[in-house]
Amino acid sequence: MDRRSLLKAGAIGAAGLASTQWLAACAPAMPGTSPNPVAPLPVDPFYDCGVLSGIHDHISSVLWTRVAPAATGGPVDVAWEVATDSQFSRVVARGTGVASESTDGCVKVLAEGLAPGTIHYYRFRTDGRISRTGRTKTPFAPNTPGGHVRLAVASCQNYPSGYFPAWRGIAREDVDAVIHLGDYIYESGGYVPLTDVRKDFVGPATDLATYRAKYRMYRTDPDLLDAHAAHALVPIWDDHEFVNDYDRVTILDDPARAAAAYQAWFEYQPVWPIEGTQIYRRARWGRLVDLTLLDTRQYRDEHPNGGKLSLALTTTAPADEVARVGRTLLGDAQRSWVLDGLGAAQDDGVSWKLIGNQVMVSPLRLLDIDEPALRALQPGLTKHAGIYLNTDAWDGYQAERDQLTNFLYNERISNTGFLTGDIHSFWQSDVVRDYDEDFSPVVAQEFVCGSISSRAADFLGSLADSVSQAATTLRPSFRYVDLARRGYGLLDCTPERTVMQFRHVDALYSESSTVNGSRFTWNSGSTAPVLQPG
Ligand SMILES: [Fe+2]
Repeated sequence: MDRRSLLKAGAIGAAGLASTQWLAACAPAMPGTSPNPVAPLPVDPFYDCGVLSGIHDHISSVLWTRVAPAATGGPVDVAWEVATDSQFSRVVARGTGVASESTDGCVKVLAEGLAPGTIHYYRFRTDGRISRTGRTKTPFAPNTPGGHVRLAVASCQNYPSGYFPAWRGIAREDVDAVIHLGDYIYESGGYVPLTDVRKDFVGPATDLATYRAKYRMYRTDPDLLDAHAAHALVPIWDDHEFVNDYDRVTILDDPARAAAAYQAWFEYQPVWPIEGTQIYRRARWGRLVDLTLLDTRQYRDEHPNGGKLSLALTTTAPADEVARVGRTLLGDAQRSWVLDGLGAAQDDGVSWKLIGNQVMVSPLRLLDIDEPALRALQPGLTKHAGIYLNTDAWDGYQAERDQLTNFLYNERISNTGFLTGDIHSFWQSDVVRDYDEDFSPVVAQEFVCGSISSRAADFLGSLADSVSQAATTLRPSFRYVDLARRGYGLLDCTPERTVMQFRHVDALYSESSTVNGSRFTWNSGSTAPVLQPG
């Protein structure tokens, strides 16, 4: 959080840079280095943001590109085709989309009638110009038993903070899709001397033109474009797609800015519109994986003390607001949808219930005041009383978290895993029904999967490893903490087990290679994944 403030402060100096300046950075980039079958063409300034696909359902994929000239010219028809081979000799779907100024030149189409569980190749054609070839894979059909799914889990890719060797690593992975947990762009921008490695030429995003310019700037990165061409993306937003640490009151305070941020997200992300600005949705791979994708931003109640309070002592008003029953992170409609969907997945016999979730579920309580001796002295003590480090996370919405963990326990929802982003570090922990109850049953696992480039406590240098070690010693519910490294998670699911492999890069060096970090083997039905240190 301090880091965010630092970046924000640094961004001020870059305010006002004309959006045309970054266009110079859109020059053709180095050819991709991915060994996957996607043609490693240089970035075409005509299709300047590459190609991208999104998971829709087992027979449909969302296909995306941007036709740069259409952003300033009239609408143009863009033909698309999908084949089961990279030479396009077996075309299985084709159609025409439209690129226009009204969508900043972005084209998004839904390719339907595809084969389930199948790799497809796609490309676009406009005025005789052919885009690079993208590769995507449909999930297998909902009732298919067995199977094998591999998913990369990414988040937080602050452009000036680091390069994207993590995306180069993801491009080379053999995965079915990439889940992105948000902070795909950072609305702040500029250049912070001594810490940043490259300049954000757009500066702070505050309106539609600057939010759009952010997506275009991020998509000048050849490693990001290679990864997008290689794998389907499953994105949700976090806070920085709009503004740091926002809540629903922030939206009410500046609805025009929020609308601009959301419009740009929907224009640039391969997600088919649901209803209004809804992004929470679900994906399913047979009876193997049910993936719930949350929106923990736009419906959440206001942060205590107007959003300024990260550290909360939950024994005194107004800080004990974070424990108030009825306070919500998800909003009523989304919470009902989440609980219904998890119940349905359990009823359908789905092996793994994964939840793509922006902010950490596991409590980061620095001091536990909800102890039997203290409660005896003060019977009215707030439940879960203590000092919390980050009330922007589920710690700021404790009663709703209890509702969720009790549901998982009461409904016997098995093999539930939260995949979490936001805090730029790697964590693994048990999620228990009630963390103030002795021997409380484990109801889920949580994997916080690092960051592509955004930094956390790595400025502490070698001390970061000591702090990480201290965190696991002081809070044994955390099986693993790594505050020092960047990277992503790689999830490998079969009916028998799920393995989470943390992968690390040094994002300060563009040529950094991916190295294996710690690995967790989670057998079906087990509540204690086995840690193999990296
Ligand atoms: Fe972030």
